[in-house]
Amino acid sequence: MKKEDLVVYEIYVKSFNDSNDDGIGDLNGIKEKIPYLRKLGINYIWLTPIYQTPNIDNGYDIENYYKINPDYGTMSDFNNLLKEAKKYKINIMLDMVLNHTSTQHHWFKKALKGSKKYQNYYFFEKGKNNKPPTNWTSKFGGSAWEYIKKLDLWYLHLFSKQQADINWENKKLRAEVFKIVNFWLKKGVKGLRFDVINLISKPEKKNWKNDLKYNDGKKFYTDGKNINFYLKELNKKTFSNYENVFTVGELSSTNLKHFANYSNPKNKELDMGFIFYHLKTDYIDNHKWSYAPTKDFKKFKEVIETWQLYQQKHNSWIANFLSNHDQPRHISRFGNDKIYHYQSATCFAVLYIFLRGTPFIYYGEEIGQTNLYNTKIEEFNDIETTNAYKKLRSENKTDDQILKIINQKSRDNGRSPFAWNNKKYYGFSETRPWLKYKNIYNITLENDLKNKNSIFKFYQEILRLRQQNKTFKLGKIKFIETNNDNIFIYERYDDQKNYQIILNLSDKKQNYKIKENIKIIINNHEKLNFNFLNPYQAIIVEC
Ligand code: NOJ
Repeated sequence: MKKEDLVVYEIYVKSFNDSNDDGIGDLNGIKEKIPYLRKLGINYIWLTPIYQTPNIDNGYDIENYYKINPDYGTMSDFNNLLKEAKKYKINIMLDMVLNHTSTQHHWFKKALKGSKKYQNYYFFEKGKNNKPPTNWTSKFGGSAWEYIKKLDLWYLHLFSKQQADINWENKKLRAEVFKIVNFWLKKGVKGLRFDVINLISKPEKKNWKNDLKYNDGKKFYTDGKNINFYLKELNKKTFSNYENVFTVGELSSTNLKHFANYSNPKNKELDMGFIFYHLKTDYIDNHKWSYAPTKDFKKFKEVIETWQLYQQKHNSWIANFLSNHDQPRHISRFGNDKIYHYQSATCFAVLYIFLRGTPFIYYGEEIGQTNLYNTKIEEFNDIETTNAYKKLRSENKTDDQILKIINQKSRDNGRSPFAWNNKKYYGFSETRPWLKYKNIYNITLENDLKNKNSIFKFYQEILRLRQQNKTFKLGKIKFIETNNDNIFIYERYDDQKNYQIILNLSDKKQNYKIKENIKIIINNHEKLNFNFLNPYQAIIVEC
């Protein structure tokens, strides 16, 4: 298998399928659904963290990297899942959270007890005049430093204060990290997704300075000085010693050049990476917790085009996606999940699945699962969202105003239990799921399969097409200029074939002349009109 052959399906483990009816998804639940995933046409499953955790950030706060979260099952359940997946020619990709551990991890606990060895596994620093060592802010709000009175030291946490950043400068720490990764590779795990991996290289201590411009400190630790060295070492000491292992880095706020270095095969770092700029196009003035009244497809297209062309030129590789567990559902975000449910689900699927790179599908998008549309603040669960709520309240926003914002932006939107059928709790569980999901449009797999237009079947069709076609996997990409922001056109081509992907990203008809005598490969509308595109029409033609 080569990286271009992968079609990855991300499972938010807590929300996929609950086999023991405790309201929480689990490994056996996933195992039951392997045949379903095979039918869809994927060949890799990325599992969000499955390790022992106090669950402050739903598993992205790891207490023990060698143990399975008991909510999800046991180590033997995991081994069985690996085996079952293998039978169906599906590989498992695990989420490696190596920028921080939970403060419940035994390293951190020992550090708190005063062990210098373990304090050096983290960043414990003296403050300045009763203030934290720097003015950096945590990505979940507030200072990035927490004070420990009995030590008179502050520790760094770029995320919640229960997620302490670990110190990759320390060789002993790195050796522990490699041991963890190898433990899972030995079991037969064939993929690794590295959480915020480009943040692991912090500056030398003498360079820990206040961020005078943005107050967030990002520029000091994003794509830091030793990042390429650490990744090369990680590659050499772990996954390069195993056959057919693929790696993807979550590359937070990186730039074109750094990204290209991380994923260019000659550098022996990572196979591919995620970027987020195309999704940030609904941040008003770069501010996530703002309400975006309209969609900015001009910017959205520009970002995709710039990144695709640059990475093509530099032989690097993008992991393409529109939804994941940190994002609202893209059908609700960019499409129209009420009036054009089928058309917008399929249009955006075509948009990213045929780009140059590896597609990452997020569970539930194959039936067009939508945002939560909550009516009460208390219905939200996510730590980032609840922190944002407090911050917005302190800025004197009313609950109604805040609800509008978080209904649009909260990560919980993408974490609803999978709606399998029309039973109570949609067949996810027999008991009330951990996260409330009203499913206002009654979207379930059962209903989708009964529809004349099934989104699931459309995904099957386009995945088959991509997988059987060398041009989509390895061909070049180019973008066709239009003077209409709502129309997005790109081509995939090689010596033999040339395909055009033509998309109307809006809910209005758009004038566009399609050449006659072309071969239509995909069309998500019944008809084709040669003079205009229907709302959310997506067509692929062979030129
Ligand atoms: C990125 C993960 O995707 C997100 O869910 C998590 O909260 C942060 N990293 C911290 O691990």
